Amino acid sequence: NNTPIFAQKKLLVRKDYKRYTVTSALPYANGPLHIGHIAGAYLPADIYVRYLRSKGKDVLYVCGSDEHGAAITIKAKKEGTTPKAIIDKYHQLNKETFERFGISFDMYHRTSTKIHHKTSQDFFTTLYEKGEFEEKVSEQYYDEEFNQFLADRYITGTCPKCSHDSAYGDQCEKCGSSLSPTDLINPISTLSGKSPILKSTKHWYLPLDKYQSWLEKWLIEGKKGQWKSNVYGQCSSWLKEGLQPRAMTRDLDWGVDVPLEDAEGKKLYVWLDAPIGYISATKQWAEDNGKNWEDYWKKQPNKEDDSCLIHFIGKDNIVFHCIIFPAILHAHGGYILPENVPANEFLNLEGEKLSTSRNWAVWLNEYLDDFPEKEDVLRYVLCATAPETKDNDFTWKDYQTRNNSELVAIFGNFVNRAVVLTHKFFDGKVPSVDSLEKIDKETIKSISQFPKQIASSIEKYRFREALGLVMELARLGNKYLADTEPWKLIKTDEKRTATILNIALQIAANLSIVSEPFLPRTSEKLKDLLKLGDFTWDDAGSNKLLEAGKEISTATLLFEKIEDEAVEKQIQKLKKPETVSDNVLPQ
Ligand code: 2FM
Ligand code: ZN
Repeated sequence: NNTPIFAQKKLLVRKDYKRYTVTSALPYANGPLHIGHIAGAYLPADIYVRYLRSKGKDVLYVCGSDEHGAAITIKAKKEGTTPKAIIDKYHQLNKETFERFGISFDMYHRTSTKIHHKTSQDFFTTLYEKGEFEEKVSEQYYDEEFNQFLADRYITGTCPKCSHDSAYGDQCEKCGSSLSPTDLINPISTLSGKSPILKSTKHWYLPLDKYQSWLEKWLIEGKKGQWKSNVYGQCSSWLKEGLQPRAMTRDLDWGVDVPLEDAEGKKLYVWLDAPIGYISATKQWAEDNGKNWEDYWKKQPNKEDDSCLIHFIGKDNIVFHCIIFPAILHAHGGYILPENVPANEFLNLEGEKLSTSRNWAVWLNEYLDDFPEKEDVLRYVLCATAPETKDNDFTWKDYQTRNNSELVAIFGNFVNRAVVLTHKFFDGKVPSVDSLEKIDKETIKSISQFPKQIASSIEKYRFREALGLVMELARLGNKYLADTEPWKLIKTDEKRTATILNIALQIAANLSIVSEPFLPRTSEKLKDLLKLGDFTWDDAGSNKLLEAGKEISTATLLFEKIEDEAVEKQIQKLKKPETVSDNVLPQ
């Protein structure tokens, strides 16, 4: 029986939206991107938007550099340079790296732009004028040596919840608790390494407690069974603990100015301005492309016209995207809210947590230099091992095995056999179909089922499962050839051989469509190889994508074997961490 076993689950019926606004977390422009970033927030989003585009949907995919906050200023201090020099360097590097990796943003923006400063200030002003903020003077930690208030990452200490000894002023990375600097036991300034003093200062707070019951209804009731359980669970426990007012301003000299007269030297909290970066990126894109940004963000008078907003992030960003930003959008009014926030867990490397400061990472730009034209191999491995439901591990050995025994041995081998045999027996022209036998009919039926099944997995944000099905289609092709043995049949039955190779080529053509979201370069190569026209997702499933008599190109390999040496070199590289001079300042 050639029919693959699909998960016999009912397809999730989802509302069809007119438009899709898809975002990936804005990475801080304070360092290069590593595989953990990619597996968390970028590759899944890119797969999703490529799929939607192939379905002919109106989709906008935005991202950009997050250029404010302590991440930037601390890095600048560490390198003895200015925040501007840091953001210019890493914005450019990360933008190019994403492009090289095939992440298909419609706009990769920056939060240092005028349009972003204005958009986030206008947001603040609207909330202020609506009376949404509470103004409060309080005692906060202050570093006398650096003359600076210490919020967020400028202060570390022992976590009151789990006793982790280097929790930050805003969050403990060990237990995930949200903290205030004054919660920390034995607080220490990350600037001077000394104990801070207390000094009074005024700030504007968003009373998140005021939105508690609204959030419970919208999220706890409304998203049950729809959001991934890791995301839903984290949100539930936040809400169970009870939300507290959160300051939306900071005493800093880098960031967006607070647009009030009595707020000199104050900046917007980076977690207020950063998600608004998705909106300012949309405004810039709309301006550049003659579109209306509001279509992608505002509620429409006719509800059916609303856009579907989806945020792709890593798990450390859950509270900001699922609780704080929705509360801000709700308080402002007029905006759509995220339909889903399919956050991923973390990716480890060779069994250990990825770490920028210990240089324990695979840097994407270095990977692209070391493995030219192999971005699809990394896309494949990162998707196949994506930390969708729990933390997962990337190892170089696994990378090699998945390339050699899956991409080369299954996908590449199948396509190569179909193309080579077509040239050998039929002059490189798609042979025609004669009468169909049982195995052909079963195979054709299977082909027709794959696109729907793959789509269903993608729409449920189960990208690993979806990719597994793509490979299952390649396996089906291999098995079909192995079972029918056209290389033997050619001696006795040319017509039968023609039928078999036609069907094999139709499978290859289908593969080029359904693999595109995952492996865009490979899909392109395969389409060139088959001289395939422009087909969309809904064309897939057909066994008539290639017309009989049509010429195809001569075989070129889609994937190459990766030798032990190449991965050994990478493992050695990991073992030589760059010396890191400063252990006090966090990354
Ligand atoms: O965690 C981070 O890397 C943040 N720069 C993500 C920001 S996402 C969004 F809100 F902009
Ligand atoms: Zn903790």
